[in-house]
Amino acid sequence: GFKKKKIEDGKQQIIVFDGNFHGRTISVISFSSSKKYKEGFGPLTPGFVSVEFGNIEAVKKAITPNTCGILVEPFQGEGGMRIPPKGFLKGLRELADENDLLLVCDEIQVGMGRTGKKFCFEHEGIVPDGVILGKALSGGLVPLSVFITSAFIMDMVFSKGSDGSTFGGYPLACVAGTAALKVFEEEKLAEQSAKKGKILKQRIEAIAKRSPHVKEVRGKGLFIGIEVKDGNAMEFCRKLFKLGLIVNDSHGHTIRISPPLVINEEEMDFLVEQLEKVLVG
Ligand SMILES: Cc1ncc(COP(=O)(O)O)c(C=O)c1O
Repeated sequence: GFKKKKIEDGKQQIIVFDGNFHGRTISVISFSSSKKYKEGFGPLTPGFVSVEFGNIEAVKKAITPNTCGILVEPFQGEGGMRIPPKGFLKGLRELADENDLLLVCDEIQVGMGRTGKKFCFEHEGIVPDGVILGKALSGGLVPLSVFITSAFIMDMVFSKGSDGSTFGGYPLACVAGTAALKVFEEEKLAEQSAKKGKILKQRIEAIAKRSPHVKEVRGKGLFIGIEVKDGNAMEFCRKLFKLGLIVNDSHGHTIRISPPLVINEEEMDFLVEQLEKVLVG
């Protein structure tokens, strides 16, 4: 905003979304909707305006002459495995174009095939101005995260030598990332995720129909959430752990089904059998 739109320094604003999770560093916890993430970490970073996830009208209303960008998780992972209404991402792209804003997608959790596409934003055929990737990018082994943008923005906003970090461009991590990308393409992991996720979601929906506990099943690819009626998903995760499955909750109320993209048929059967036990009995 400062460099591109010449907004007065200190007045820049970025639009973010209720229920967001962008990690644990100070600026991103500053606009968390969750008290537990920021309590005790003040003073917090100003300049973020949080609006309802999935509500394009709310975004429109939040734009001011000081707005320089929109930061969004295309699907919210920690926020309850939430998928926005169709057209939301496209709407963000249009608003960003109309108002000269940068649209940045945090794909750390949903990128690299998790939702059945290489990038989650592909579900709406948009291209953001910036993409943040990590975790699966290096096969989950060596810590690696990246910010990807166009050469135009890179040259305008960042300067060689001054924008860096101690481990930025760490060669071992980059080699691991390049190898993981090769496997990702060769084994068609995004396509695998789409195919397996469709089957798995159908099987989970069948369980949900027989279960007294399930409120809703949602997901795309191998990114599936099972929201439970009593809001205590961890209780089910603990039971699943005893049955041999490591499963986390999301936002307290949703069981997060996010298996490795290479999960095989036998493992999917095992997963479904255990879910049947804890959700139906
Ligand atoms: C969407 C999203 N962004 C960012 C992060 C990573 O943040 P950090 O490396 O600061 O823990 C996560 C971690 O789970 C995430 O899910």
